Amino acid sequence: MGGQQTTTTQVSLGPGGPLISPLGIGTWAWGDRLFWGYGRGYADEDIQGAFRASLEAGINFFDTAEVYGFGRSEKFLGQFAAGAEQNPVIATKFFPYPWRLTKGSLLRAARGSVKRLRVRQIDLYQLHWPTPPVSVETWMSAMADAVEAGLVRLVGVSNCNVELTRRAHAALAARGIPLASNQIEYNLLHRQPERNGLIETCRELGVTVIAYSPLAMGVLTGKYTPDNPPSGYRGMQYKRELLARVQPLIALLREIGEKHGGKTPAQVAINWVICKGAVPIPGAKNARQARDNAGAMGWRLTDDEVAVLDSASEGF
Ligand SMILES: NC(=O)c1ccc[n+]([C@@H]2O[C@H](COP(=O)([O-])OP(=O)(O)OC[C@H]3O[C@@H](n4cnc5c(N)ncnc54)[C@H](OP(=O)(O)O)[C@@H]3O)[C@@H](O)[C@H]2O)c1
Repeated sequence: MGGQQTTTTQVSLGPGGPLISPLGIGTWAWGDRLFWGYGRGYADEDIQGAFRASLEAGINFFDTAEVYGFGRSEKFLGQFAAGAEQNPVIATKFFPYPWRLTKGSLLRAARGSVKRLRVRQIDLYQLHWPTPPVSVETWMSAMADAVEAGLVRLVGVSNCNVELTRRAHAALAARGIPLASNQIEYNLLHRQPERNGLIETCRELGVTVIAYSPLAMGVLTGKYTPDNPPSGYRGMQYKRELLARVQPLIALLREIGEKHGGKTPAQVAINWVICKGAVPIPGAKNARQARDNAGAMGWRLTDDEVAVLDSASEGF
């Protein structure tokens, strides 16, 4: 779909779920020192600025996880949301650590998240990774228990392939609960979900696709180049050679953005995800980044531009 439509319209989170803005904000960096370097280059005021700027720009959907910053991200979000005039829709995640082997461990973790988020109920509770040994069916059964206990409103999964998405969907359906979402890595440099049938499966089942790392961890903003690579783990994932290969795509994002009144490469990259029918959740460390990312709403790439970007990103 393309043409005249804009991307301001809110979307339903899962079948009949609450309405959310067409893009959300990811909060992994909020308090995470190990990966994102919280405390070096950005601090609490910056994070609060990102929250405020997002709400002001019409974003009402925030994604966190119990593991982000060892609970700090959930605490920040709970603290900010408690002081806000409107209630955002908050998604968090249960991590199936290898020592978590029983359904009770999910209920205990959910209670921990409820406390840190300062809410009565988690809007969307996602299984972070479907890692063994516990089956996805067992975790979905625990999720259904959490819904029945009033701890959780909607259930989602993350990082589930076609088979696991179908299994999670079926396990919940047996308890009369829809699978609201599958949160997966999806961006112009990572289009496997289009190619392996996952996007199609989610559409068929009515499962909202939540796209994480929609900016390829910042690379699609265009600020990282072979001469200015990201540091730490990101530097290992996006090496100089790959950053060099990405530059023509960044130039194209810039060129297309110009035709839409000076949209930034980040805004075009996020808009591309929205045009694909997914809900992107770009991370933002400060108000400037949040505002920039929010500028991906309210306009839409044409079908031809989406096709040009598809073809330019084919080789990644
Ligand atoms: N379910 C999962 O397994 C999973 C995995 C990964 C992420 N996620 C979720 O998805 C969210 C987003 O993914 P992500 O954080 O990995 O990657 P991302 O959204 O692709 O990139 C976020 C990073 O890019 C930079 N950035 C963002 N907006 C910018 C802008 N407008 N201008 C310049 N730089 C900008 C910032 O880092 P710098 O300023 O340091 O460059 C920011 O932390 C996470 O916060 C998390 O909620 C989920």
